[in-house]
Amino acid sequence: MAAEIEILGIDDLRSLSGIKWNKFPSDVLAAWVADMDVRPPPCVNRALAELVDRADFGYNRRASELLADTFARWQLESHGWSPPTEEVRVFCDVLQAIDVALWLHTDPGDGIILLTPIYPPFIRAVDGAGRRIIDVPLDPDGWRLDPARLRAAVDGDTRAVLLCSPHNPTGRVFDRDELTAIAEVANEHDLLVVSDEVWADLVHPGATHVPLASIGDEVAARTVTVSSASKAFNLAGLRCAVAHVGHAGVAARLDALPGHLLGAVGTPGAEAAIAAWTDGRDWLAALRRHLTARRDQLARRLATELPRVGFDSPEATYLAWLDFRELGLGDDPSARLLDLARVALGSGPDFGPRGNGFGRLNFATSEDLLDDMLDRLVSAINA
Ligand SMILES: Cc1ncc(COP(=O)(O)O)c(C=O)c1O
Repeated sequence: MAAEIEILGIDDLRSLSGIKWNKFPSDVLAAWVADMDVRPPPCVNRALAELVDRADFGYNRRASELLADTFARWQLESHGWSPPTEEVRVFCDVLQAIDVALWLHTDPGDGIILLTPIYPPFIRAVDGAGRRIIDVPLDPDGWRLDPARLRAAVDGDTRAVLLCSPHNPTGRVFDRDELTAIAEVANEHDLLVVSDEVWADLVHPGATHVPLASIGDEVAARTVTVSSASKAFNLAGLRCAVAHVGHAGVAARLDALPGHLLGAVGTPGAEAAIAAWTDGRDWLAALRRHLTARRDQLARRLATELPRVGFDSPEATYLAWLDFRELGLGDDPSARLLDLARVALGSGPDFGPRGNGFGRLNFATSEDLLDDMLDRLVSAINA
């Protein structure tokens, strides 16, 4: 029997303790933070229930030791990339791994390249750490990377690229040419590349995710690839991530850190990721079909009912990066639309200055709830 996903209705969603459906008053529909309105796969619930049944809560290294192998096998079967397991490390979350890699390799004032607009914690990972953002805007006409712009941006103090691949918020899946350009620039200028590939398993038909480290040995040896089961399997609250640390300098500095500085991942997070990456493939296929259908539902309704909202159909993710600039809703349309439509979108300006006039809509919900959200947006905007 084909795997099925279970999409939650509004009452179930409001009964959850997570932030998505609790941040705003109960008349607001939540389309902001990147959690999905689906139950995680049964294999994950089973693994966690068995853990509880066994009351298996003692000190535990087994799960995090198994993670490296499980991750490597999942990468090979999903993306044709075989990260050496001895170079895979476990972290408590994706952003921890990113912060640590950048912190260990760069000094205050060093330049770190971001392809903008960009997921807000990337901005904080750079300027919150006293490093300098080197802004490389993606081409707003389709959100492609212009290699010439990337090359021109590198200066003498540039030390790293922080890449989001596939890209949040635009949903772009960088193709082999774009990734090769990034690899070439990194190789020429001796840059560390931190490649956040947490969205790699949520690619829509027609696009293919290429792990940056699979482009070639030279770039693999300067890359830290970070991943997690959190986005594709809806497990963000369980806090568990892995990183392939191909960069020997970062690996050595990691080894030199005080033993407990970074903490250790908890057994539930590790067991959940192992279950997802071992038994979750059919469920993931069903989820992807659902997400592609929602993306296309959104695209159809925007084209017919809100043609002045700019939208490039995402090649990956369940996020739509919407351009409201023609509508005169100001720099932060999400604030106006929260008032007018009672729909909570992600705020465009949080994604950097290139997000002004934009908002991010999370479409990982049911067909009906997405229709409700769109009905509200259409009425508010066309009023
Ligand atoms: C690009 C990107 N990286 C990292 C994260 C956070 O992942 P986690 O909470 O699993 O660490 C997100 C969450 O939406 C994301 O979009």
